Amino acid sequence: MAEHIKVTAAYFSPTGGTRAYVKEIAGAMSAAVEELDLTRPEVRRQKRQFGPDEVLVLGVPVYYGRVPEVPDLLDGLEGKDTPVVLAAVYGNRAIDDALLELSDLCAARGFRTAAAGEFIAPHTFSARIGAGRPDASDKESARELGRRALDKLAQPDWQPAELPGKRPYREFQRAPFYPEGEESCVSCGACVRACPVEAIFASNPKQTDAERCLRCLACVKACPTGSRAVRGMAFEATRQRLEQLLQQPRQPVLYL
Ligand SMILES: Cc1cc2nc3c(=O)[nH]c(=O)nc-3n(C[C@H](O)[C@H](O)[C@H](O)COP(=O)(O)O)c2cc1C
Ligand code: SF4
Ligand code: SF4
Repeated sequence: MAEHIKVTAAYFSPTGGTRAYVKEIAGAMSAAVEELDLTRPEVRRQKRQFGPDEVLVLGVPVYYGRVPEVPDLLDGLEGKDTPVVLAAVYGNRAIDDALLELSDLCAARGFRTAAAGEFIAPHTFSARIGAGRPDASDKESARELGRRALDKLAQPDWQPAELPGKRPYREFQRAPFYPEGEESCVSCGACVRACPVEAIFASNPKQTDAERCLRCLACVKACPTGSRAVRGMAFEATRQRLEQLLQQPRQPVLYL
């Protein structure tokens, strides 16, 4: 496979950590990368076909050791024996079955996993966990993944990467807490636009559809007035428990 191969960088990344890694990996593979932001529902609705001579770099955050529960996540992507390089980005706990699940989802849509990596970014529930990641060394690991994937794809008989994880996947969980808008909300709609799964009512952005909500906190980050927040003891307890448990920084792992 030639070095001027067409590379698409696709990511689901509510708070930007996954995007940073996917861009590094893809950037090491090609100078002209097309971006596909699957965080946006309207982008997920667009159909995009990939041939056998191009590469998809695809990253997701790890939620409870799994791929985030977004039913239409890959609906728009259709490969034709297209190589894919995967990234699972997590908040310094573990990725569990996320890479395996993502690879299975890709296989069902015509993609073959050539290489993959697990990387660390700030935890959604506490900026103190994974603070400053990706750092220079993380970015170099991501670029190494891109370079080594290119080398591998240059071999005509390359074999799919061996990935960690097991089937059936870890059971999915849902946190008891979720963000809502407060009295100070000025109905600007920024959170409605930022929500990746349309869980905020445009007619009343103080409300959240708890069934749909991923707890990704993109809306909290997007709110210009600090009116959207997760309140209550359950969130604080989770945050404190995670901060205590996850003090030791973990390092990237590459799978080829
Ligand atoms: C609902 C939820 C579940 C999470 N579960 C895990 C987990 O199982 N392991 C972990 O290390 N991080 C976990 N995280 C943290 C995210 O994987 C991490 O913050 C990731 O970098 C977010 O990606 P983004 O910045 O692209 O949105 C979870 C975050 C959320 C919101
Ligand atoms: S409402 Fe839920 S899913 Fe939507 S942005 Fe906020 S936390 Fe994420
Ligand atoms: S972003 Fe903040 S101020 Fe704007 S509608 Fe949402 S909660 Fe209200």
